[in-house]
Amino acid sequence: MSKNTDISKAMQIHLGEILTELPAMPDFVDGIRRAPARHFNLNQKDTELALKNALRYVPADWHAALAPEFLDELVTRGRIYGYRFRPAGRLKGRPVDDYQGNCLEGKAFQVMIENNLDFDVALYPYELVTYGETGQVCQNWMQYRLIKRYLEELTDHQTLVMESGHPLGLFASSPDAPRVIITNALMVGCFDDQENWHRAMALGVANYGQMTAGGWMYIGPQGIVHGTYSTILNAGRAKLGIPADQDLAGYLFVSSGLGGMSGAQGKAVEIANGVAIIAEVDYSRIQTRLDQGWIMKAVEEPAEAFQLAVDFQQQKKSITIAYYGNVVDLIEYAVNNQVKIDLLSDQTSCHAVYEGGYCPQGISFNERTELLKTGHAGFKEMVDATLRRHYELIKILTGRGTYFFDYGNSFLKAVYDAGVVDICRNGKDSLDGFKFQSYVEDIMGPILFDYGYGPFRWVCLSGRQEDLLKTDRAALDCIDPDRRFQDRDNYVWIRDAAKNKLVVGTKARILYQDALGRMKIALKFNEMVRRGQIGPVMLGRDHHDTGGTDSPFRETANIKDGSNIMADMATQCFAGNACRGMSLVALHNGGGVGIGKAINGGFGLVLDGSDRIDNVIKQAIPWDVMGGVARRAWARNENSIETGIAYNEMRRGSDHITLPFLTDEGLVEDLVSKFFAKLKK
Ligand SMILES: NC(=O)c1ccc[n+]([C@@H]2O[C@H](COP(=O)([O-])OP(=O)(O)OC[C@H]3O[C@@H](n4cnc5c(N)ncnc54)[C@H](O)[C@@H]3O)[C@@H](O)[C@H]2O)c1
Repeated sequence: MSKNTDISKAMQIHLGEILTELPAMPDFVDGIRRAPARHFNLNQKDTELALKNALRYVPADWHAALAPEFLDELVTRGRIYGYRFRPAGRLKGRPVDDYQGNCLEGKAFQVMIENNLDFDVALYPYELVTYGETGQVCQNWMQYRLIKRYLEELTDHQTLVMESGHPLGLFASSPDAPRVIITNALMVGCFDDQENWHRAMALGVANYGQMTAGGWMYIGPQGIVHGTYSTILNAGRAKLGIPADQDLAGYLFVSSGLGGMSGAQGKAVEIANGVAIIAEVDYSRIQTRLDQGWIMKAVEEPAEAFQLAVDFQQQKKSITIAYYGNVVDLIEYAVNNQVKIDLLSDQTSCHAVYEGGYCPQGISFNERTELLKTGHAGFKEMVDATLRRHYELIKILTGRGTYFFDYGNSFLKAVYDAGVVDICRNGKDSLDGFKFQSYVEDIMGPILFDYGYGPFRWVCLSGRQEDLLKTDRAALDCIDPDRRFQDRDNYVWIRDAAKNKLVVGTKARILYQDALGRMKIALKFNEMVRRGQIGPVMLGRDHHDTGGTDSPFRETANIKDGSNIMADMATQCFAGNACRGMSLVALHNGGGVGIGKAINGGFGLVLDGSDRIDNVIKQAIPWDVMGGVARRAWARNENSIETGIAYNEMRRGSDHITLPFLTDEGLVEDLVSKFFAKLKK
């Protein structure tokens, strides 16, 4: 049997080589948010397994000291984070040249990871949670140390394999292959459920990557501001009759959540010139958004919030108000006092509804944190009761003319899971969706994704503000604002991006673009790098995009050919990006809506100014988007068919999309109804 000394000698990269002695436990900085305890429920055997799993990262000399510490973390926090291995102080995405590495990509990924864990950026930085309550970069700090070390060693003839936060190792590959391939939480179908998921997390074999947390492509709340802005603005156009060239002046948007992603809502409404009231139960998150200027005012009474809103609506001026309290209390007030709400949504973390993502009515945020630790069963009942009340209030408000949409947080699914069958479109199960449309069904799907518009993004790896401004200008030059109203919105967005002070963390930018728009901008940036006008750039996107995510309750909610339960598109997107040479590719289970409910993937591409990268851009970027448009076209989505026809014409000789022949509805209906009528006889 192998001995630990042989094992240690067989590895050049391990924690014993990185650290000469067991590091001291770092101090926890006051005021930095901590993840709530994740309910511990492993049995004795599994508890042993979890300890052995964590200890396999560290040399045996340290096991006796670490085993009780890891057990304590597991029991009190529900996970082993290995806090002792966290570097002391604040992590921060620094200029790429500050990092050690044998290739640019290895250094660039370190920038991205450290940005994801920055105190200013991450939701629970000590627990490696970047956003969305549970979205982690990796599972624990031992993994973090090893990943960093591997990235320092990585050459352009190797690929680092990442399995649910665990760096499996470096394997030989060609310079044209991805430098990192990441998968998170890909569970085998029959085990892909909450119970097995919680066990796997506690055992230390699964990581919830959300989307860009585990894909190392998070760029702070800016990443979601553009999508939120487009969604709310277009909801106003589609449902309130606002003309395409006007904004939300005079209209009220009410929602909840000022966390990682939801924190974008205030800023987005401000940019769209509307009035927003956002409920938030955790004052620390309100404070963060006030400090950033992403919320203008905080109040503690619903009456005050609505009075302020009306004043500003009448003046057609923008104000964004945080209501410190439960969203259900806020809308209960609106119902009882006949307040008119134009647009209504919710962005609590309903993908993790029983893990602290949704605070029940009648208790404070701190009480919910305590309850999570102690009375889990009672907590679930309170959550379910609040969800049911929430739904009843929404029904009353929509009956009075409010437009409600599900904002991709699994809210409708959570209400359904709380026992409300009435919410189902078919009155019995969720197969045909829910009574209220999700924002993808109504707005984002047809108006953006079906054309290929999605959350393209970049990070100026030099860390220089002037590089960001140069890229903003270059991107602006690539957009024709007169082509479609979407292009005009995007043009205005990038023109005003610097003025809107969107950056938190690294010098990053988000800009919704379609396939060929993204390609054009990427080629332009790579040319600027080649000419030495800017430093290297990391390109990527949110997984929440046209082709990256199969999620029947969100991204693919407007796929109506029955294929919304399939995950072929996201998997093909991932594989296609890998074989076309993206620098990083990622594929995850969960993401936004929760485990088992989505498969999502993303990419990273490091622009180094080379001709090789020009070729990757020309092949991979259109594929990344058009794979999604093609699938949407095949599902008979009208705008995708139109986009597909134009694409086949433009890319004749290189790409070719299969398009559906449309059936005469009458012919099919007539035939099938006659057939069923006969069956009944
Ligand atoms: N629509 C999108 O594009 C999109 C994108 C990313 C994430 N999401 C989803 O949106 C949700 C929110 O994401 P996040 O990153 O902001 O999560 P988060 O956990 O950081 O923020 C959610 C916030 O809601 C607050 N909250 C919980 N219950 C509340 C209640 N009853 N009343 C008032 N406030 C309450 C929490 O205190 C928290 O601050 C997640 O489910 C996420 O998956 C949507």
